[in-house]
Amino acid sequence: MNYRHGYHAGNFADVLKHLALCELLRLLTTKDKKLFVLDTHAGAGGYDLGSSLARRTGEAEAGIVRLAAAPRAGMPAAVVRYLAAVAAYDRKFGPAGGKPRRYPGSPRLVRAALRAGDRFVACELHPEEALALKREFAGDRAVEVRQADGYKALKALLPPVERRGLVLIDPPFEATDEYERLLRALGQGVKRFATGCYAVWYPVKDDAAATFAADLASLKPLILELHLQGIEPGRLAACALAVINPPWRFEEAMGEALPWIAAHLGPGVRATICAPPA
Ligand SMILES: C[S@@+](CC[C@H](N)C(=O)[O-])C[C@H]1O[C@@H](n2cnc3c(N)ncnc32)[C@H](O)[C@@H]1O
Repeated sequence: MNYRHGYHAGNFADVLKHLALCELLRLLTTKDKKLFVLDTHAGAGGYDLGSSLARRTGEAEAGIVRLAAAPRAGMPAAVVRYLAAVAAYDRKFGPAGGKPRRYPGSPRLVRAALRAGDRFVACELHPEEALALKREFAGDRAVEVRQADGYKALKALLPPVERRGLVLIDPPFEATDEYERLLRALGQGVKRFATGCYAVWYPVKDDAAATFAADLASLKPLILELHLQGIEPGRLAACALAVINPPWRFEEAMGEALPWIAAHLGPGVRATICAPPA
């Protein structure tokens, strides 16, 4: 396990995933019923964009940094809310303004959206990242951090007693069998908890991604994609988020937000939304 999300925090892939995550959380917390959230691959929780890791790739510059500097006029509401969540996290570390210095990982975004009585379990397998995650939420009883295999957690924790849930599955795709493991675990999760909302991130870089999307088809996901242009070979140029059982109005919100994001992330950036056949 060599992957460290600190190299990639705030990049275009995080922008897509976290924009969608914020909107899913918002829509799922409008109902006055308790929600369970499971983050199977949680990472460290929060990231310093000035760290040597982040500076080594500079990926946040073409992601959250560019977006945070975009004009507010005409900005879709979902993007405004996502940027507000990022800024709120950044403000914990000093006065707001200028370039974002810290970037919230998925557990921080989930935590910010939780209401009293909602439940959140964040799994992270890597010992150092899990320790960082535990430190990030030390003393916070609303967040249960487990140093555990997130795929096994799908089986162990679903269905939740709340009967309403959001599951984020965001693996590092280091292992050659990641797609297979993910499909197997997701299948088990959906079998146990068919009405849950699942958001699954994956890289779009070769035939494996197309095969994976085809394998997901029976679950009727809404698929959001973001494609960059002019990326040097070997670096990630496109990614997707497959959302199974999205809440009402999610597709509409993404339909407004994604073209705007694409237009403001740089020339040639392309977003697509693919809805399952009715
Ligand atoms: C892409 S990062 C997660 C980023 C995070 N979800 C976010 O959006 O801020 C993937 C993480 O999964 C962890 N990981 C790898 N295999 C895992 C497994 N089987 N169970 C839980 N975590 C795992 C890696 O250590 C890494 O921190």
